[in-house]
Amino acid sequence: MTDAAAVAANDAATLTIRDNRTGSEYDVPITDGTIKAADLGKIRTAEDEPGLAVYDPGFVNTASCRSSVTYIDGEQGILEYRGYPIEQLAEKSSFLEVAYLLIKGQLPTKAEYDAWVHEITYHTFVHENVKGFMHGFRYDAHPMGMLMASVGALSTFYPDARNINDADNRHMQIVRMIAKMPTLGAWSFRHAQGKPFVYPDNDLGYTANFLSMLFKMSEQKFEADERLVRALDVLFILHADHEQNCSTNAVRSVGSSQVDPYSAVAAGVAALYGPLHGGANEAVLRMLKRIGKKENIPDFMQGVKDGNERLMGFGHRVYKNYDPRAKIIKKACDDVFEVTGVNPLLEIAQELEKIALEDEYFVKRKLYPNVDFYSGLIYEAFQFPPEMFTVLFAIGRTPGWLAQWLELVQDKEQKIARPKQIYTGDRTLDFVPASERWG
Ligand code: ACO
Repeated sequence: MTDAAAVAANDAATLTIRDNRTGSEYDVPITDGTIKAADLGKIRTAEDEPGLAVYDPGFVNTASCRSSVTYIDGEQGILEYRGYPIEQLAEKSSFLEVAYLLIKGQLPTKAEYDAWVHEITYHTFVHENVKGFMHGFRYDAHPMGMLMASVGALSTFYPDARNINDADNRHMQIVRMIAKMPTLGAWSFRHAQGKPFVYPDNDLGYTANFLSMLFKMSEQKFEADERLVRALDVLFILHADHEQNCSTNAVRSVGSSQVDPYSAVAAGVAALYGPLHGGANEAVLRMLKRIGKKENIPDFMQGVKDGNERLMGFGHRVYKNYDPRAKIIKKACDDVFEVTGVNPLLEIAQELEKIALEDEYFVKRKLYPNVDFYSGLIYEAFQFPPEMFTVLFAIGRTPGWLAQWLELVQDKEQKIARPKQIYTGDRTLDFVPASERWG
């Protein structure tokens, strides 16, 4: 298209709506492939009637913000953080560098990176009272429930965090949260195991320190195998952001009330706790264990195609192609199993994938492996119990939640989140006191 044609097409970028209730016509501008809901609100049958609204449960076709954090093209299977393809970041970067990229919007210089790593490393400790209240949880408390509560509780340790309009203050809380999530996550795990909490080791890198806080016993220093450290670091990178998913939307929605970021992130952890969001990899493991051996696969697949159950770890609301994260995780499986020995369920997973990618049922519906298909196998090889899987996801997602929160609080167009409803209940009933109703 020539420049002039592009300008003309842009000028014509409007939607003409005719309201058949009134016969009125409206021209609504189209910007970035969207119309403003407020423009629809001007369409009304009478001055004192409410304007037209859209009904969109689950926000399936509603843009809630402008964002420059993460780009996804589900048809092509593309995922980029701040414009950088996930494949390159997973191969060449580290989780803390990716966290910097998400938060600051650009890659760090050497000095910026060193300062960032230093800050995060020296904020990994939590107040001793945190230890006290973590001990107060029941012996079988779910670690994700403990994480959610303890992240929220951090707001009481840093009351200055409510000063969200101060850039330095925001930076401080972001550093604290990225630094302390592994400590809280590891301590939730140790509590469930009845083991003493391990303090952070500031000589170790971010992910190596997390492994030390999880698994260290009586040894002077816990040194995890470098290949495992790298694999977990890559998994954190893959989970670091995924645009306006359920938990990010929760962070933004709660953050829109201008509450402190610990409370907003606690809402994100709560959303991630749900089985439709963070829990699918656990379901994949259960499915693989139920199938048990390769010979049982044909029967299982028939059940899926008959609609009796789903092939867990396949399909995605956005990706209608191979989830780019699944490809990278598959490669990480090889690295991890080199250290831990092969998880026997891998053979079943690979066979399921092979069959599904050729089977017309899955091909026609564009069902490909998603991020959860292989991640549970890796986590199990690390000897994480399934309850820990979502905690790992939450640690990885924290920089993404914070980058989105930062964008929200600086966005002049944002308002407190407050959707409309279509009221379906009774109206203007006369209240009869209990003494008369039960008389
Ligand atoms: N196995 C078998 N059939 C499937 C699967 C599956 N995993 N996923 C979708 N289908 C079929 C549906 O039955 C439907 O078929 P139909 O058109 O004949 O009725 C068609 O594919 C479209 O499915 P929808 O449910 O409409 O797709 P939607 O986008 O709403 O769901 C979802 C996406 C929830 C991820 C779905 O694919 C699913 O349940 N997958 C298994 C669970 C899973 O792996 N979740 C993790 C997602 S990744 C994440 O959250 C981090």
